[in-house]
Formats: sequence, structure tokens, C-alpha cells
Amino acid sequence: SAAEKGGHDYFMLKEIEEQPEALANTLRGHFVDGRIVLDEQRLADQDLRDVDKVFVVACGTAFHSGLVAKYAIEHWTRLPVECELASEFRYRDPVLDRDTLVVAISQSGETADTLEAVRHAREQKARVLAICNTNGAQIPRESDAVLYTHAGPEIGVAATKTFLAQIAANYLVGLALAQARGTKYPDEVAREFHELEAMPDAVRHTLGVVPQVRELARELADSKAILFLGRHVGFPVALEGALKLKELAYMHAEGFAAGELKHGPIALIEQGLPVVIAMPSPKGRAVLHAKLLSNINEIQARGARTIVIAEEGDDTVKPFADHLIEVPAVPTLLQPLVSSVPLQVLAAEIARSRGYDVDKPRNLAKSVTVE
Ligand code: AGP
Repeated sequence: SAAEKGGHDYFMLKEIEEQPEALANTLRGHFVDGRIVLDEQRLADQDLRDVDKVFVVACGTAFHSGLVAKYAIEHWTRLPVECELASEFRYRDPVLDRDTLVVAISQSGETADTLEAVRHAREQKARVLAICNTNGAQIPRESDAVLYTHAGPEIGVAATKTFLAQIAANYLVGLALAQARGTKYPDEVAREFHELEAMPDAVRHTLGVVPQVRELARELADSKAILFLGRHVGFPVALEGALKLKELAYMHAEGFAAGELKHGPIALIEQGLPVVIAMPSPKGRAVLHAKLLSNINEIQARGARTIVIAEEGDDTVKPFADHLIEVPAVPTLLQPLVSSVPLQVLAAEIARSRGYDVDKPRNLAKSVTVE
């Protein structure tokens, strides 16, 4: 009913709007007396100190949350992090031993590929930490430890609030590793939890773009394809934006690392092709920002219709943006938590304009329990 959907036409929009709460609930209780605690974890600090390599295994959107985490965890801990699709991991003889930490991310906790990856990792004696949104599901039951995301039940087949909650949980794991093992960036690590705590408000503020994005979506509904570009943590954001559009709007979509453009994908650019670009903050790494500006310039010059997601007040992008979506300023590693929001709305609303069932896209199930 409309009441269950919080007055929205579909659950996904309600769930998009629940993201501030999903983040706050996931972070709650994990910072006690100045320390990160992974209270549900059952991994001792000594276990975290023994780790010499991290594997993140997951599928779909959960995999994209892992790609985001790789940037943060490697930076804070200097541990090598490999992020791999669960369906590929197990069949290629990955190098694992008792000092490997495998982080298995799954909203449902029932995804067959991820479960098999967990089993394989445990057979190799690796320690497995599950990040899961469903209490008592199979993946946490078979893991050594679990950190729950508290996003609440997600009805829409397309993951939204659980994606943001996964990113937050992954960051808690990274911070806990940094705390247990020491870090080259103690000030940044000490600050980061507080920056995470400010994210529910930043996401709430970001929801202000919803009406603008819905209108844009209606204009783009007849497009044949849409491309998504990003760099650094904006790259997984681009992959996730494209996945959302494929699964909901049945539209061809691809996410690219912006630096790869000239190695092939730029050949796809033609007059009027919508290209969505997730810009990094101009206050972050200047080189990243400058490189993306030049990428947008290149594609705009070739006739693409540029849709730019940029930090509020970033005037440098304006000449290159046919359509500008402004999101609040947040630290670089946290940007996916705000820049993903307009992409979720875009996919949902394009799907709706095309007459599709946003909550139950064709051919898809909420949890995939076959390999
Ligand atoms: C996301 O929108 C998808 N429905 C899908 O990619 C999903 O994230 C994937 O199947 C993994 O599911 P899980 O998190 O329950 O393991």
C-alpha cells in the first residue's frame, strides 16, 4: 500500500530516503571511549594484528561497496586489499592462509557465490568476517565473525540503503584494523569516525537533489544508453550507477574509470549521449580533480551530454556541465556516500518513466541462492 511505501510510488524511493537512518544505525555503538569497537566481531585485536592481507569477496552492489573500501583500508592500514567477485574468487586458486582476513559482504547473507567463497576461504584457514544485513543468515553463521549493517529490511530488489550501510561497515573494519595495528595517519584515522558520524546529515542534505534528478530522469528516459565515469572512489560509484540503471531501467549502461576513456570507451561518445561524471572534491587531491575536468572537457567536445555530480560551490565544473547535480562537501573517501544517491534516484525514475516495476525488476531476485 501507499502507506507502507511511506507515501511513495515505490519502496525504492522510500529506502533511498531512509539512508541517513541506515547509516546512523550502522554506526551506532561502534565508538566507545575514543575507540572503534566491532562489538559483534569475535576477532581479537591480536587477530587483526596478525593479518597480512585482506580479501573482500562479494557480488553485485556489495562488491561495489568493497571496491570503495579498498581505497580506504589500504590507505589507513597499508595492508594489501584485493577485492574480488565471489563467483571468480573460489575458482581461481586464490592465495590465502591463516593470516589472511576475508571480508564477505552480503546484504541477504544467503548469496550462494559469496557463501561458497566463505567456505573456500575457511578451508584454506583464512579468517572470515561477514558484513551482513540479515540477522542469523547463512553467511554470518559460517563465518568466524560478523559485523551487522543495521539498514533495516530492504524490499526493493535494487540495493540502496544497504549499499551505503555496507560502505560504512567496511570503513569500521578499516578503522579497527588501523587502530589495532597502528597507522601512518593517526590524526586522520582518529578524525575519520567523527566524519563518518556526520554522514547521515550529509546524506539527508543530499536528498534535496531528488526532485531535480527525477525531472532529469524523465528527460533521459528515451536514451539508448548512459555512461558513467569516475576516478578513485568515484570509479566504484560509476560502476554502481551503471548497475542500477541496467537492473531497473533495462537500459544499456557502463561504468568506466575516467582514465580508461582514451584506451577505448571514448570511441562510444557521440552526439547527445548522456554521460554521468562523479567529480572528486576540488579540496581533495587536486590532480584527481584536474584530470577529471579534462576528461569532461574531452567528452563534451565530442558532443556528449554531460551530467556532472560535483561538490557544492565547485565552480570550475560549471562550463563543462550540461546538467549539474550538487552534493555536499565531504572528505574524499566518504564521497561515495553522497554521490551514489543521485544515481539511485536516476535509475529508479528512468525505470518508472519507462513504465517498469521499480521494486521488482524482471529476471532478478532479491537474493541469489544458486551459483
Ligand atoms: C543490487 O542492486 C543487486 N540486486 C545485486 O547486485 C546484489 O547486490 C547482489 O546480488 C548481492 O546480494 P547480497 O548483498 O544479498 O549478497
